Amino acid sequence: MSVAADPVKLMKQKVGQAAADRVQSGSIVGLGTGSTTAYTIQFLGERLKAGELKNIQGIPTSFQAEVLAKQYGIPLTTLDAVDHIDLAIDGADEVDPQKNLIKGGGAAHTREKIVDSLADQFIVVVDSSKIVDRLGSSFPVPVEVIPMAIAPVMRAIEKLGGQPELRMGVKKAGPVITDQGNMVIDVKFDNISDPAGLEKTLNNIPGVLENGIFVGVTDLVLIGEVQNNQPIVREM
Ligand code: 5RP
Repeated sequence: MSVAADPVKLMKQKVGQAAADRVQSGSIVGLGTGSTTAYTIQFLGERLKAGELKNIQGIPTSFQAEVLAKQYGIPLTTLDAVDHIDLAIDGADEVDPQKNLIKGGGAAHTREKIVDSLADQFIVVVDSSKIVDRLGSSFPVPVEVIPMAIAPVMRAIEKLGGQPELRMGVKKAGPVITDQGNMVIDVKFDNISDPAGLEKTLNNIPGVLENGIFVGVTDLVLIGEVQNNQPIVREM
C-alpha cells in the first residue's frame, strides 16, 4: 500500500511494529487497546511464531486485546498470577510535551490505567496526529461512570466547567457499555491547565470509576509519521 493511500494506517502499522520489536523473550507484557496496539499484538504473534521471541505472557487491557492475543497465539496471564509487568505498550488519543496522555477512545482506560501504571516500562505508540501542545485540544476526557450515577456525575462535571456527553454506541442502540458494565461520559474542557489536578478531581466525584487522563505514567513515546513519503518512527 502506498503512503498516499492510507498514511494513518501505515504510521500505526510502523509504530506498532517498532514497539513489538522492543519486547524481549521471557517478558510479561501489558497489551494495550485500539487500532495501533492491534498491530503490536499482531507483530508479537508473528515474532513468537517465527521463534524469534519465546516465553512471553500478555496481560490484556480489554476484551479486544484479549481476543486479538488469542487470535495471534500470545499466551495470557492475569494480575493475580504475576508480581510485576515488565513492559506495557498502549496507544493514546492525545500526548502532551510532558508525555501526559488522554486515553479512552476505546472506552478501555480503566483497565489500561491499571496495567500501564504497573509496568516497569510503559511505551506509548501513536501516529503524529496525536501530539498536542496541551491536553484537551482536540479530544474530550473519557470518564467511566457507574450507571446509577450518570445524572449526578454529569451535573458535577458541568459545575467544574466541563461539557459532558454520554457516549453512544455505533451499530448498537443506546450508550456504550464498558468491559466492566459501566457507561462513559466524554467531557470537553476548554482548557486543561492542570492535568494532574483534573485527574484527581474527576476521580473524586462519587460514581466515577476512572478517567482517561494519565499523568506521570509514560516512559517512552514512539511516534509514527510520514517523511519523504515513507512511514518512519521517532522517539519523543
Ligand atoms: C482505548 C485507548 C486507545 O489506546 C486510544 O483510543 C488510541 O487508539 P488508536 O490506536 O485506535 O488510535 O485509549 O481506550
